[in-house]
Amino acid sequence: MKHITVLLDETIEALNIKKEGIYVDLTLGLGGHSEAVLEKLDGGFLYAFDQDLNAIKLAKERLSKYKNVKIFHDNFKNAKKVLNSEGIYEVDGIIMDLGISSYQIDDIKRGFSYLHDVPLDMRMDDTKELTAEIVLNTYSKEQLETIFKLYGEELNSAKIATEIINSRPLKTSYDLVKITDKYKTRKGHSAKRVFQALRIYINNEINVLEMALPEVLSMIKKDGVIAVITFHSLEDRIVKEMFKNLCEEPFLKVPTLPKKMPFRYYKKKITPSKDEIKNNPRSKSAILRAIIKN
Ligand SMILES: C[S@@+](CC[C@H](N)C(=O)[O-])C[C@H]1O[C@@H](n2cnc3c(N)ncnc32)[C@H](O)[C@@H]1O
Repeated sequence: MKHITVLLDETIEALNIKKEGIYVDLTLGLGGHSEAVLEKLDGGFLYAFDQDLNAIKLAKERLSKYKNVKIFHDNFKNAKKVLNSEGIYEVDGIIMDLGISSYQIDDIKRGFSYLHDVPLDMRMDDTKELTAEIVLNTYSKEQLETIFKLYGEELNSAKIATEIINSRPLKTSYDLVKITDKYKTRKGHSAKRVFQALRIYINNEINVLEMALPEVLSMIKKDGVIAVITFHSLEDRIVKEMFKNLCEEPFLKVPTLPKKMPFRYYKKKITPSKDEIKNNPRSKSAILRAIIKN
């Protein structure tokens, strides 16, 4: 199985790991970032979260030699509550490597890939009930159009939504691809934006990020770091704006003394090197942003 952790060295460098520190990986995946953190700890501890049980199983095997790690099958929106219940109120560093992993895309029965004819699923947490099949076969035209527009910035949202209603029942990914193929307007695969939109909606990705970020930010110690990797502009916009409000003083028309901001930038924006993109084309859209607590 091919799985390459994106922006690994850059993330670890940004975290500036203290060997006795407490770290949290909110998106364990197959454990690439976690393993690199654990390698640097000596006396420190790592807490890791993932909502995907399959990923957790594989990551547990990978990290089995480390005793200073605890893994939770949970959505990271609950991370603060879970950590508090472990007696953890402050941490030295947090990693968020958002979205789906290449492992989930390659596991074709999960329904994330439009390149195979598979059931319409797209749940990251398959203990939850809402699947792409339910959304596509039961939501109204207006609801589908809104999902495609909001989370996929799809130009033909209305036409695609109408065609879906007229083609019901949709059973597999190719039933959807047949429809998007008719309305292809941009470069790349016709279904890319509709699939992205459905995945974001089904996993409630944007709302969860907006909810979780302030909570986990409130747990960072002085000189602690949060490093967030995003893969599309909707997520990046949220992270960028939130970090800007924490690091940059708003421009005021009235003269005032400078205000002490709660965080400072590590670097505003880090993107993968040409070599990384060549070795792992999926890293192309990744953006890493990291800030440090003052
Ligand atoms: C890009 S992968 C992480 C890869 C990981 N950094 C590595 O090195 O293997 C994203 C992971 O985050 C998980 N995930 C995404 N959103 C989540 C959420 N809200 N709560 C918990 N896990 C989430 C996904 O299930 C997936 O396994």
